[in-house]
Amino acid sequence: MANNVNIAFIGSGGIVQSHLDQGLKEFEDVKFVGWCDLNERTAQARRQQVDGQGRIYTDAGKMLDETKPDAVYIMLPPFAHGPAEDEVIKRKLPFFIEKPVAIDLDTARRIAEGVEKYNLITSVGFMTRYRKSVQRVRELLKKQKPVIMHGGWLGGGPVEYEGIWKWWVQKDKSGGQFLEQTIHTIDLARYLFGEVTRVYAVAVKERRQRPDFFTIEDASMVQLSFANGAAANLYSSCTTPIGAGILLHIWATEMKVEFTGWEHSVRIQLSGGEEISIPGEPNIFAQEDRAFIDSVKAGKNKGILSTYEDGLKATAIACAANESMNSGETIKINL
Ligand SMILES: NC(=O)c1ccc[n+]([C@@H]2O[C@H](COP(=O)([O-])OP(=O)(O)OC[C@H]3O[C@@H](n4cnc5c(N)ncnc54)[C@H](O)[C@@H]3O)[C@@H](O)[C@H]2O)c1
Repeated sequence: MANNVNIAFIGSGGIVQSHLDQGLKEFEDVKFVGWCDLNERTAQARRQQVDGQGRIYTDAGKMLDETKPDAVYIMLPPFAHGPAEDEVIKRKLPFFIEKPVAIDLDTARRIAEGVEKYNLITSVGFMTRYRKSVQRVRELLKKQKPVIMHGGWLGGGPVEYEGIWKWWVQKDKSGGQFLEQTIHTIDLARYLFGEVTRVYAVAVKERRQRPDFFTIEDASMVQLSFANGAAANLYSSCTTPIGAGILLHIWATEMKVEFTGWEHSVRIQLSGGEEISIPGEPNIFAQEDRAFIDSVKAGKNKGILSTYEDGLKATAIACAANESMNSGETIKINL
């Protein structure tokens, strides 16, 4: 591989803007060759962000054939996954994909098989794994037993239904808040406590007047059982503006851990009264992007902390929660 990595984007909306702004556009070894989006104006806006580099497309396959990227960023809403990945896998290209990797498990399984078949380098946008706070807690957990955790994403919900909020509030487009957003916490739960075996979930509905197209739950509570015997309760709400936020509290045999905020700053209390505080980093997308680009250059994993397989496993948990909300049953995770 040459010193530069040529990358192309499928989906060029809000999250791409954030990746570029947080550092990707400053990477000296990255060249932007293509921007694909159903909405040409959105693709144009991203192209402007990098001083006009790259060509605009509305067809992903055509872009891949004409621009011949070394790697692809797949930055699509949950409902749009599948065909884009097929085009990328057909060409045996490494890819970075935003969470959630799919809205349903069959799609995620099919893509995972393609990734495995060609042994592709992949990275999933679970950026919280790259934080010093998370790494420190993971290290400490190696010397003790995990016990319980609770946490989630709480907010007041969209004020207007434009941009991402148009698809976000439609269950058949976003998969609901637990799959679309709280999946970051599902992934952290797995990363810190290990594999999940069973899921039980309860939906909360009809707390507010909503338009007809608002079909996601107002809130949900999801109970996870881990293979090692620990347990978690993860919640989501888009109906509770007061005291809202992102949090995860963990208890293990020898410590209590409190992650707070999107940046996952942490306060750790250890036995003997010792306390550790670690602030969250502001530019975390740049770190996961650096690991991905370095891996593409090396032709092997050079610091990627979550691969497509992690995306598949988190999706399996979220889909089990959706199934449990519908059936009222506890769902076993079988992958
Ligand atoms: N890691 C994070 O913290 C984080 C933050 C925000 C969003 N995301 C994720 O990123 C994904 C995209 O979110 P967003 O905020 O960029 O949404 P967005 O709606 O701003 O952008 C998505 C873009 O994809 C385009 N698109 C849809 N279907 C397409 C197709 N078949 N081919 C080409 N383009 C298509 C749309 O026109 C739109 O411009 C979501 O899954 C979301 O969960 C992750």
